[in-house]
Amino acid sequence: MKLQAVALAVCCVLGSCWAQGGWDSGVWSVYDFPDPILTPAACGRPSPSFVCDPNNILPTADVEVIDETAKDVYNRTTVLCYDAQGSKRKGYLIMVAAMPKMNRTFTSRLADNRRTRYREAQFFSYMLGMYNWKHSTCNETTIILYSADDGVLYTSTQSTARAILTDQDIQDVATDLVIYHYPVNTNPTRAANAIKYLVRRYSDFFLAK
Ligand SMILES: *[C@@H]1O[C@H](CO)[C@@H](O)[C@H](O)[C@H]1NC(C)=O
Ligand SMILES: *[C@@H]1O[C@H](CO)[C@@H](O)[C@H](O)[C@H]1NC(C)=O
Ligand SMILES: *[C@@H]1O[C@H](CO)[C@@H](O)[C@H](O)[C@H]1NC(C)=O
Repeated sequence: MKLQAVALAVCCVLGSCWAQGGWDSGVWSVYDFPDPILTPAACGRPSPSFVCDPNNILPTADVEVIDETAKDVYNRTTVLCYDAQGSKRKGYLIMVAAMPKMNRTFTSRLADNRRTRYREAQFFSYMLGMYNWKHSTCNETTIILYSADDGVLYTSTQSTARAILTDQDIQDVATDLVIYHYPVNTNPTRAANAIKYLVRRYSDFFLAK
């Protein structure tokens, strides 16, 4: 499974395999999902961005706010791992993947229910960070995945990011989120507000470090 993922991810960075199915169907496989830093246009963005929303399901004004918040974190933080490599800088990455629906790859043999869709989102975001969106070897990326039809809003942290934004922190933020933005469902406008809230709260952890 991993080898296949690498091969396909490479193909997507070099080529344009997302054009094959993603635009029309709105159903995305992790292997095809574009990178908003390398291919912003494929992500519905005019310039390199931390948000990839290929089918433009989130309101643009909200995406702008999310992007600014994420860029601010990137600008104002330093990942120690880069210092060790003698690299100039680069801070923590908070990135958002938004799509109409996931093509279930990892859980395709399981019943389609809320639990398996969350499990799929877990794999999807992990694979995105490991392959399609791999911008370093420092594991400093936090990925928020929203899949509208699946009704899934999921946060995935790589190890270096998780040392600051712990799983318990994410649970605590999610509890607060439910109070302000319940229900986070298939309505992208509600979801955009929820994502803005998550990015703002997560950014506080990285900026406070
Ligand atoms: C990030 O830093 C660059 C260079 O200092 C600056 O041009 C840019 O406006 C900053 N962006 C944000 C969102 O702070
Ligand atoms: C989902 O992925 C499978 C396996 O790659 C592919 O055969 C199928 O066409 C995809 N479905 C959609 C709707 O993209
Ligand atoms: C990043 O994560 C990968 C996979 O979990 C691991 O093999 C690697 O050692 C990690 N690197 C750093 C710098 O944490």
